[in-house]
Amino acid sequence: MNSKFVYDIPTKIYFGENQLKNLGKELSKYGKRVLLTYGGGSIKKNGLYDKVVEEIKNANLELFELSGIEPNPRVSSVNEGANICKKENIDVLLAVGGGSVIDCTKFIGAATYYNGDAWDISLGKVPVEKCLPIITVLTLAATGSEMDTGGVISNPKTKDKRGISFPVMRPKVSFLDPTNTYSVSKYQTACGSADILSHIIEVYFNLNTDLYMLDKVMEGLMKTVIKYAPIAIKEPNNYEARANLMWTSSWAINGFVNGGKRQAWSVHCIEHELSAYYDITHGLGLAILTPRWMEYVLDENTVKRFYQFGINVFDIDKSLPEMEVAKKSIEKLKDFFFETLELQSTLTKINIDKTNFKVMSEKAEILGNTKYAFKPINAIDIENILKMCL
Ligand code: NZQ
Ligand code: ZN
Repeated sequence: MNSKFVYDIPTKIYFGENQLKNLGKELSKYGKRVLLTYGGGSIKKNGLYDKVVEEIKNANLELFELSGIEPNPRVSSVNEGANICKKENIDVLLAVGGGSVIDCTKFIGAATYYNGDAWDISLGKVPVEKCLPIITVLTLAATGSEMDTGGVISNPKTKDKRGISFPVMRPKVSFLDPTNTYSVSKYQTACGSADILSHIIEVYFNLNTDLYMLDKVMEGLMKTVIKYAPIAIKEPNNYEARANLMWTSSWAINGFVNGGKRQAWSVHCIEHELSAYYDITHGLGLAILTPRWMEYVLDENTVKRFYQFGINVFDIDKSLPEMEVAKKSIEKLKDFFFETLELQSTLTKINIDKTNFKVMSEKAEILGNTKYAFKPINAIDIENILKMCL
């Protein structure tokens, strides 16, 4: 392998049932004053909140709370959380939720060391050198935020959604109990699975050919999502399906599969504009966009990657011509998203028209650095891809 990279993924994982008994011990390593962050109430409905609070009390820790963190979390929640941390001298953050809660908590951890609007951090005006320690209890398999360095927040006033990534924001410990995802709805399970798949696709589609080992890992991860997402949707309490999705979500984006894959991602930056303007679920936007992006970038230069994808992920007959396999693989992906996972297949179906496409495309080109992508694309290309999604 010619590639050069650093492997450093220090998040400690407690995987499986009944691991929460280790929560108090892990929190105590960082101090006494804990800020528990969570979303709109799903953890109260499924009983997880009570279990977490019990562990905190048993460990004689002081509990503070921030609830109501929104899907596509807002900068206002970050500022609210950072104010609590400053006022109450919080030692450690405990995020219990999906990617939105964990991302918001990462920003809170960073904003605690900044005297100003947390939005400045998302704009890159402030380097993130310090962050409060973060422990997570994951409740939705999707973003990989439980084991990665990234976070994304939104500013509804300016219709912006921005992501940042700093090593100090990576969770110290994450509790991954698949049974905590039994209550995730069919729709969120489908969206989360589309997100996991997209994280792998963004890396897998590259023109480097020297990382065979990682290509095989990624193909295995993609096959895992394709095998288990439909099972989790039909049988929400299927442990095997939930466990495979959960562990795949973490490994899709924790940094491991990128070793040496250097180019910018193509689809996430476009989706983030859709969420910014229309507050849609991230995974749904990715499902609509990804096959259209594939159709747009498929050509004589890129066909080999699509061919590998088709034969190794969807088991398409390898004796067929490369271009035929490539096109069939895109059809298979559409079937997976729109038939098997039953996600809406177009922007029109979710009431999005072309009104904002131009400005969204210009922002996506800049924020996504898409001129360094698998196939370089500019704002005009992005607008064309968005139109293909109508
Ligand atoms: O708020 P509650 O009541 O908890 O309900 C949530 C929310 O309505 C619900 N939910 C979560 N766990 C549940 C549950 N409902 C029942 N049972 C459970 N166990 O699901 C809804 C969606 O939750 P959310 O956290 O928004 O979903 P997800 O995990 O998909 O996170 C999406 C956010 O993460 C960002 C996205 O852009 C989006 O803002 N991303 C973060 C990344 C990262 N940190 O690396 C990378 C991704 O590409 C992505 O951009
Ligand atoms: Zn994503």
